[in-house]
Amino acid sequence: MAQQEDVFKKIVAHCKEYGFVFPSSEIYDGLGAVYDYGQNGIELKNNIKRYWWDAMVKLNENIVGIDSSIFMHPTIWKASGHVDAFNDPLIDNKDSKKRYRADVLIEEQIAKYDEKIEKEVAKAAKKFGDAFDKEKFLATSVHCQEHQAKRDALHARYAKAMNDNNLEELRQIIIDEEIACPISGTKNWTDVRQFNLMFSTEMGSTADGSMKIFLRPETAQGIFVNFLNVQKTGRMKIPFGIAQIGKAFRNEIVARQFIFRMREFEQMEMQFFVRPGEELKWFEHWKKVRLNWHKALGMGDENYRYHDHDKLAHYANAATDIEFRMPFGFKEVEGIHSRTNFDLSQHQKYSGKKIQYFDPELNENYVPYVIETSIGVDRMFLSIMCGAYTEEVVGENDTRVVLKLPAVLAPVKAAIMPLVKKDGLPEKAREIINTLKYDFNVQYDEKDSIGKRYRRQDAIGTPFCITVDHQTLEDGTVTIRERDTMEQERVPASELRNIIGAKTSFTELFKKLS
Ligand code: GAP
Repeated sequence: MAQQEDVFKKIVAHCKEYGFVFPSSEIYDGLGAVYDYGQNGIELKNNIKRYWWDAMVKLNENIVGIDSSIFMHPTIWKASGHVDAFNDPLIDNKDSKKRYRADVLIEEQIAKYDEKIEKEVAKAAKKFGDAFDKEKFLATSVHCQEHQAKRDALHARYAKAMNDNNLEELRQIIIDEEIACPISGTKNWTDVRQFNLMFSTEMGSTADGSMKIFLRPETAQGIFVNFLNVQKTGRMKIPFGIAQIGKAFRNEIVARQFIFRMREFEQMEMQFFVRPGEELKWFEHWKKVRLNWHKALGMGDENYRYHDHDKLAHYANAATDIEFRMPFGFKEVEGIHSRTNFDLSQHQKYSGKKIQYFDPELNENYVPYVIETSIGVDRMFLSIMCGAYTEEVVGENDTRVVLKLPAVLAPVKAAIMPLVKKDGLPEKAREIINTLKYDFNVQYDEKDSIGKRYRRQDAIGTPFCITVDHQTLEDGTVTIRERDTMEQERVPASELRNIIGAKTSFTELFKKLS
């Protein structure tokens, strides 16, 4: 565990050192849980967004995109339930004065039981080697069964407390489980209180009578309030989806783990409108589609899993998360929710406008049901960085740090390097860049030895390094080095566009999704 924490610290440091992510307002000592993306970070982020947007909007003829405002009429948040119910249960440790989410403390405790079981399994697997039968071991090991029983009992108690909104019971679970504050080490806890997560501001001058408005905590509501606009102007027929990428804001109290939980972040959300009664079928469909989208990136199928929700949000009748194995455990990257017709019905009620769809096949009007897929761009970014960060031994007493990013997402697709800064090689390298720059983000690099330049590109995940040498001037060939294998090959410069394109274009990836 401590080792994994070290890895995570290294990833955070790497993000800063190589221009991926910087703390916001750093020269003023930063602003809690707010981050800026640097020159490489923005490229990776844009590629993630493109992968999502095109997979939704380009590959599905019944999904269209919009871009709605961050500021919206405040009644929207009353209607959606966010004013009354978008709360976190918080608890303070009286000695350290640190504040925690009560639900997170308990979920971490549940994860500890899971870890204990995993440790027992790993120990036995090592002992028995090839003869090891995991199922049999789990069914017979007394220790595993004890841990499992404790875990299940805690889980059931926690799920009930959350569903009943029973804050006293949440506190009691923390006391009974002897959960201690990681800072003070004591179990001296306050009561659990609810805290609303929305940021608010004023619109208009006070002389005019200003209006309190909220910074949207999710992009989804901008889709719901535009449902009729899009359906009518796009002549959309159910089932159909509306996709959106945009900023969301939450006054997270426990903002930890770098860009995992931020106060200003970006979401990629798609609301899929379906006939009442068909929502669970579509829920299963989108669960599968979204997991495939993640897995197609090739970061290792074993690093993803579903996690069904114990406590459903106020609007949902089914919900699951797609989790990724981060260095600090499996964590939610995306949520898939069956939101019923709650949001559209509420907006119908609060706005007084009819929000219905006439289904020509059924010859009836209804308020559509909704399946939502909701993924955080920043969390996706973090999962990709965590999955890609690799420290590799390359020969005696030598290691390299390489970001094994999926090539389609890499910020720079190829670095073009003249072997030396003379003899016309820089000019030749620039000539090659001019043939590639219209299709790919390429970088020119002439500083330091070739070895150092390779390492610099490995550290930002560049799939190809192309070296221009004296032979290039004679026969037009270059050496191309592949990031992961470090193998080098001599190829005609005229082939580069095809070689780089074959590995870094989205086309092959999209074909896998179809
Ligand atoms: N519209 C539904 C919705 O917003 P959510 O589970 O609260 O659902 C969806 O959020 C996704 O947004 C999460 O899976 C996560 O990737 C991202 N997200 C939520 N809160 C975040 C935060 N504070 N910082 C970064 N990403 C966040």
